[in-house]
Amino acid sequence: MAKVKKIGVLTSGGDAPGMNAAIRAVTRTAVYNGLEVVGICQGYQGMIDSNFKPLLAQSVSDIIQRGGTILKTARCEEFRSPEGRNKAFNNLKQAQIDGVVVIGGDGSFTGARLFNEEYDIPFVGIPGTIDNDIYGTDYTIGYDTALNTVVEAVDKIRDTASAHNRMFFVEVMGAEAGFIALYSGIATGAEAIIIPELKEEARNLKSMILAGNIRKKSSNIIIVAEGDKGGGAFVLAEQVKDEFKEYDVRVSVLGHLQRGGSPSAIDRVNASRLGHAAVEALLDDQKSVMVGIMNGEITLVPFRRAVKLHKDVNHDLVELARILSV
Ligand code: F6P
Repeated sequence: MAKVKKIGVLTSGGDAPGMNAAIRAVTRTAVYNGLEVVGICQGYQGMIDSNFKPLLAQSVSDIIQRGGTILKTARCEEFRSPEGRNKAFNNLKQAQIDGVVVIGGDGSFTGARLFNEEYDIPFVGIPGTIDNDIYGTDYTIGYDTALNTVVEAVDKIRDTASAHNRMFFVEVMGAEAGFIALYSGIATGAEAIIIPELKEEARNLKSMILAGNIRKKSSNIIIVAEGDKGGGAFVLAEQVKDEFKEYDVRVSVLGHLQRGGSPSAIDRVNASRLGHAAVEALLDDQKSVMVGIMNGEITLVPFRRAVKLHKDVNHDLVELARILSV
């Protein structure tokens, strides 16, 4: 018989479309299993401030299609300190919360892992970030929607780029990872994709232009991940402008619109699966683990591995993008 009777759920770090679908799945699975559910508002900050609200099955009606997060989110400095985590523990105890589902990225899981080393209230994580950069899962909530948002935007930029024979540098999100850039680059037929995972010689635009990989086509789209080591889209564009004056260069930074919007069907379904799996994991007395999806199947990955190990992009896809852009 599982010990857990009342669970908390929170969203933490950058929001991602599909987080609401996950909150709904956590709540409804818990209710289905006779558990009480508490929404913890504004991530770990809400745990420290006792910013709790009861969630019933009907509290999560009409949210599966909405972007953002009904629980709000935050990045919480205080939870990084032992004192902050102690306050959080006392508040959880007082509210009789005996299991917590954390929906967030690796920063959120680092906090969860530390907490579970110190206290015996089990935390289970659900990967939620548009960046898709968490080890141990093929997929993170919000990535699919963000990717489709980027593709739609770049298609539009291609129209105007083509009309004016211009070269566009389009900067997409991915502070430390190039998943959005790589996949959107392939999906939009970008002439070059610049991501942090590339070795120096592979991300050298000057040599690409000289080698003719980027020809003087009617339009050139260069997708740049914001985490690019070379300084991002503006810096790269300036270099090209200075050295290759024949190109008419423009820059477009897509920014936070990539985080918003109604979640795609894939994000809704996967978030529902992961929310359900997280509650099942708590019922199975799991702690300090993330639920993920690998090869279409639900998996459990210790936080220790999810936060420490690096998830690399598929370098076959990098090669594919290069071949198809000739
Ligand atoms: O959610 C991840 C992410 O989208 C990164 O790609 C990006 O650098 C970061 O969030 C920006 O978040 P914020 O503007 O909220 O600090």
